[in-house]
Amino acid sequence: MSFVLRSSQAQTSGRRYGFCGIELAHPIVNGSGTFDAIAARRAFGDALLDRFPFAAFVSKTVTLEPRQGNPPPRLWELGAGMINSIGLPNKGLAGYLADDLPQLAELPVPLIVNVMGSSPDQVATLVAAFAERDEVAALELNISCPNVRTGLLMGADPGETAALLDAVRPRTAKPLIVKLTPNCASPAAVAAAAEQHGADAVSLVNTLRGMAMDPRRPGEPWLGGGTGGVSGPAVRTIALAQVREVRERVRLPIVGMGGVQTGRHARDLLDAGADLVGVGTESFRDPLAGNRIAVELQRIGANSGMNGATSQPARPRISQNS
Ligand code: SIN
Repeated sequence: MSFVLRSSQAQTSGRRYGFCGIELAHPIVNGSGTFDAIAARRAFGDALLDRFPFAAFVSKTVTLEPRQGNPPPRLWELGAGMINSIGLPNKGLAGYLADDLPQLAELPVPLIVNVMGSSPDQVATLVAAFAERDEVAALELNISCPNVRTGLLMGADPGETAALLDAVRPRTAKPLIVKLTPNCASPAAVAAAAEQHGADAVSLVNTLRGMAMDPRRPGEPWLGGGTGGVSGPAVRTIALAQVREVRERVRLPIVGMGGVQTGRHARDLLDAGADLVGVGTESFRDPLAGNRIAVELQRIGANSGMNGATSQPARPRISQNS
């Protein structure tokens, strides 16, 4: 069976967007784990490379050892998004380096590898393994997965985030993006700790912890993992508020995400303080959403009030009570 990609490739005005020293064609990227570029290339063939929906590709999380992920069911659809309890299934570092990295290196955009460990030492080992790989433009540290037991250990507390950065920062000169959780008392305080301890950027929001009940088994959760992470339009207003709050605390570039479905939604996140915008749940509905949103954003005027995505970090707007 052959598939045809129908989409207007994001036509850029020739302007490039700088993010942590990486040149991008437009400000739309994917949220980690929401677009399987290897499976998409199998389905669409090399047409995917001509119509790649994102300006950079953020990989699904890689852990040191292979993981099966959480037991099914793993998804529950909401009126305004979904809850996932995937549990970070992946081939582990060795499998990723052998199988996935060579294929992802063929994508026509910079590759950002997302990593997660259950201790600073584990994350440092992962970061060191990618530090010398030319195929990798930057690393994203996942300290915000609500679906694994140790997923939030280093992301919910500024002191733990600082200790993680202290262990990891010396292991690479590549840009480090810290993916923040909304499931903590103060994402802005965690962002500030990340900034003070050497992060180059932050991304937010990861999913909000939520639960669905099994309609056939009263009192039992639907998801095999019990709880999961809520994403999609349901979290858009929360993402806007948290991006604004983080922007008021740090100078770091911000990748803002949460329920973006249109160029208008992307524009709103940029206006709240983001420098790039991540598209996640919308790509499940429309695999080419990234391209469409980039085109819509350009029509609205990506330049108006653009916070940067420049090498000059945006000036934080410090609130009265911070
Ligand atoms: C998952 O694999 O459980 C989702 C990834 C995440 O929330 O970080």
